[in-house]
Amino acid sequence: MPRPLAEFLAEAGQPEVLRFWEQLSSAEQRLLAGSLEALEPAELRAHCEEAGRARHRHTASRPGRMEPLPPEATGSSTRSPSESLRSWRERGFHAISQNQVAVLLLAGGQGTRLGVPYPKGMYDVGLPSGKTLYQIQAERIGKVQQLAEEKLGKQCTIPWYIMTSEFTLEPTEKFFTQNNYFGLLKSNIIMFEQQMLPAVDFSGKIILEQKGKIAMAPDGNGGLYRALTNNKILEDMDRRGIRFVHVYCVDNILVKMADPVFIGFCVEKGADCGAKVVEKAYPTEPVGVVCRVDGIYQVVEYSEVSQETVEQRNADGQLTFNAGNICNHFFTVEFLKSVTEEFEPQLKLHVAVKKIPHVDEKGNVVKPETPNGIKMEKFVFDVFQFSKKFVVFEVLREDEFSPLKNADKAGSKDTPTSARQALLWQHYRWAVQAGAHFLDQRNNRIPPLNQCQGTEEPPAVCEISPLVSCEGEGLEKYLRDQEFHSPLLLTEKTVAALGQGQ
Ligand code: UD1
Repeated sequence: MPRPLAEFLAEAGQPEVLRFWEQLSSAEQRLLAGSLEALEPAELRAHCEEAGRARHRHTASRPGRMEPLPPEATGSSTRSPSESLRSWRERGFHAISQNQVAVLLLAGGQGTRLGVPYPKGMYDVGLPSGKTLYQIQAERIGKVQQLAEEKLGKQCTIPWYIMTSEFTLEPTEKFFTQNNYFGLLKSNIIMFEQQMLPAVDFSGKIILEQKGKIAMAPDGNGGLYRALTNNKILEDMDRRGIRFVHVYCVDNILVKMADPVFIGFCVEKGADCGAKVVEKAYPTEPVGVVCRVDGIYQVVEYSEVSQETVEQRNADGQLTFNAGNICNHFFTVEFLKSVTEEFEPQLKLHVAVKKIPHVDEKGNVVKPETPNGIKMEKFVFDVFQFSKKFVVFEVLREDEFSPLKNADKAGSKDTPTSARQALLWQHYRWAVQAGAHFLDQRNNRIPPLNQCQGTEEPPAVCEISPLVSCEGEGLEKYLRDQEFHSPLLLTEKTVAALGQGQ
């Protein structure tokens, strides 16, 4: 056994990790040693001690201390004046055209609820095109760059930073290579890895999931800030002249990449930090609520809020805490620097009590039926409290939020089916608004939108490539007064043919 590892573990108070050492192959020994390489002994000791105690920590919501958002901090895609929306859009496109905007994808999660053995971004929800979430996002970036170039007559780049973890880095890299980076330049896609932390049992001891393997999990999407430092990402942003970053999570099929309106809104308001929200769909929807706690902006996560608080309503019947976090955040690079340099160690550790497979004293693998361990995570939004100027932008769910969280099962929400339907509904609406008519099998026109709303499947299948339109823009010239049978797949190729037929 290499002495430094034994010393390291003794110092961290975890010598039991080596209890099967003599039975391991040299490759297994190397792997075990490597899994803790990134940590300092004192840090590991503190992590395990805190996790061991955390089971009894009270994390329920703070009744009486939570207040809903004040109106002055909020812009809205539906309620703000159209003149303001136009000006924010222009401001956003201007920043994009100056190469000041980057997007940053949080893609280090394990996607446990969806239950696929590969990164969620590689998921194909069954669209006619067969596109995956990664491909849709890549094409939207390409289109926003193109729109900015057309508007301001200047070539520009929106770099795409992708935070992965040990679980997702390799398959994500491979997938992007196999797909030729979906038409984007490889040099503008920067993948980096977040840290992993060991899971511990209720007495604060590291859990071995196999004789030679520690149960490790990514340190939460708030691991972003540490990963930015470890991988020198802010230096890369400085080199490229990036000033504003749109951070988002992988599973929202309707995500607007580098949304110029949201970016322009935050920039014009002089914000260093911003969040997009939607009205909550139902009280127990698993979304965090953006609110103030003791006067400070925060997200109170759905897992840490009481039933009573989520059910609370105003006199008009509206949910009091209604601003659902859709994990779309705006940060200035300056703010990210202040977080990484100063505030990161103050980020709260959130506790997840889990059933974690482990080995017994003889080395046999046990799958527990009740929770036996703790994983600790940081949350990306916990930095809002350090912001000097925080703003919120409210958007419509049907335009911007349909997350893929669970597998298709009776009674499940936020599934591949609901994500596919949300996207196809959106594209159907865009096509009809642009003047298209859909025909049924007998060549009769399908009734207009308002007679069909409410059904789960749109009345006709229409999928529009993001390379053709990313927000429904520019479709009239192809679709106005034209009749189509379902399915209609609008790609760069099919619209070129439609254009010629005019
Ligand atoms: C998240 C939000 C929640 C919001 C909801 C909207 C957080 C902590 N919670 O909840 O407030 O209402 O999305 O859909 O942001 N990830 C990592 N590394 C990790 C863990 C997660 O990069 O260690 C990434 C995931 O890949 C994903 C994103 O973070 O892209 C969100 O993670 P997920 O676990 O799906 O969050 P939710 O619980 O759904």
